[in-house]
Amino acid sequence: MPKPRGRSAGRRRSVLIIGSEAQPFAKTGGLADVLGALPPALARLGWDATLVLPKYRGVSSGTRTDTFPLTVGAWTRDVGFFEAPLDDGARALLVDCPELYERDAPYGHGNIDYPDNPRRFAVLVRAALEHAARHGAPSVVHAHDWQAGLAPVYLRSLYAAHPVLAGTPSVFTIHNIAYQGLCEADWLPRLDLGWDQLAIDRLEYWGRVSLLKGGINDADMVTTVSRRYAEEIQTPEFGFGFDGIIQRRRADLAGILNGIDVQEWDPEHDHFLPAPFSAADLSGKAAAKAAVLARYGLPTGAATLARPLVGMVSRMVDQKGFDLIAAVADNLPRLDATFVVLGEGEDRYQRLWRTLAAAHPDRIGARIGFDESLAHLIEGGADMFLMPSRFEPCGLNQMYSQRYGTVPVVRAVGGLADTVRDAASSKAVKGRRATGVVFDAYTPEALLGALARALDLFGQPRKWRAMQRAGMQEDFSWHRSAQEYVKIYDRAIKKRLKGA
Ligand code: ADP
Ligand code: GLC
Repeated sequence: MPKPRGRSAGRRRSVLIIGSEAQPFAKTGGLADVLGALPPALARLGWDATLVLPKYRGVSSGTRTDTFPLTVGAWTRDVGFFEAPLDDGARALLVDCPELYERDAPYGHGNIDYPDNPRRFAVLVRAALEHAARHGAPSVVHAHDWQAGLAPVYLRSLYAAHPVLAGTPSVFTIHNIAYQGLCEADWLPRLDLGWDQLAIDRLEYWGRVSLLKGGINDADMVTTVSRRYAEEIQTPEFGFGFDGIIQRRRADLAGILNGIDVQEWDPEHDHFLPAPFSAADLSGKAAAKAAVLARYGLPTGAATLARPLVGMVSRMVDQKGFDLIAAVADNLPRLDATFVVLGEGEDRYQRLWRTLAAAHPDRIGARIGFDESLAHLIEGGADMFLMPSRFEPCGLNQMYSQRYGTVPVVRAVGGLADTVRDAASSKAVKGRRATGVVFDAYTPEALLGALARALDLFGQPRKWRAMQRAGMQEDFSWHRSAQEYVKIYDRAIKKRLKGA
């Protein structure tokens, strides 16, 4: 094997992170929060961290530092690289290719993916690797979700004997196993992949090709975003057909809980809130509550201010429990609570919430769309935050909620189970105070039961305050998670040195 350049002992270790969205450049969900915060957190641990993502429409940051022709299959274009600094010395490289990335949205129109997504994201990966080949191999490549699933595959195929990149280890992180990057097999030659990849132990999945499967199979280490989800995806209930594929990699699988950006989500310094507040002085939270009610055109009188406000900020898809909410929709206006929801997604759920809000203008507010400032305001102003997810790899809003003294009401799955301690059961765990209300069964009864329990606790101010404060004292910062990633990077590097 040729001696890889750039990984010699004593040099600063470097990681090339590849993903499809990141704050502050582009965001549709939690992946963007993670990829915005992880590179600086790694930089703070002494790593040279470079994040590569597409330069989508509307992204104007960065300075062009390189341009070269890139060929993938029979497709050749000049691709540009815009470099933008991230916090703490990390950097982003935005891949400029207007034909592929200058579009209305990152992945598709409505729920329909762009038909050339396999090329769009293969080009992202190849651009990242070719840039590294020109500027020095990283110690490790860290690829995220199906969009970057070909990074480990290319490293083991096209680049296996490359003078610079040969032997580069890779780590693959699954943020959501339900999105599998499926395409027709005739894409293989167009992506520079041989027909040998169309095998059951390679990328083949029920006659098609899965880019997610490629990432899982070929990475040296595989991670996902909570311990619980790492267990769950080995079962048919949560594996979405990939449970067997994951089980084969279980020796190299780790669950690393996401951190949160504690500067961006900080009730003491959040410019989206009308007044700052903290665990020691929660009084500013009432101003946020009044502001949320006003933004939704709900009553702002004493009765509504005293009534618990339940918030939701979410993609409106089955994953997030919207079908369960639909099943209890008639009951919601009868509860002693006000509801505000912010989200976009499937038509039927958007319609349901619009209809509910129109029918109960004094109790239910619905905003369809993506609105970062309103998301912060809801986290600040709501009393409770509802996440009745069918599955939840990690989930970030339940952590944001705790930081804002907003008590999460969640289903015991994935990262929700790992980050919220239930009011009834955690009494038994010494010194670990309750931070929320957790329910198990994915049934309308269990959801209503959890809401009833939360409303009951709200009526007991001492207990409620204790829960709020316990949540606000939790440490969800990135430091610990980034340290765990470093351990995984080291394991991946060692595996390659041993010739695995
Ligand atoms: P997922 O990535 O599955 O959607 P997460 O809980 O990990 O779920 O992350 C969702 C992120 O997207 C959070 O930061 C949340 O505040 C944000 N978000 C979701 N929907 C909206 C919306 N409609 N407007 C603003 N922010 C949103
Ligand atoms: C995915 C998951 C979500 C997770 C996020 C970031 O979008 O659905 O649970 O928090 O990725 O890892």
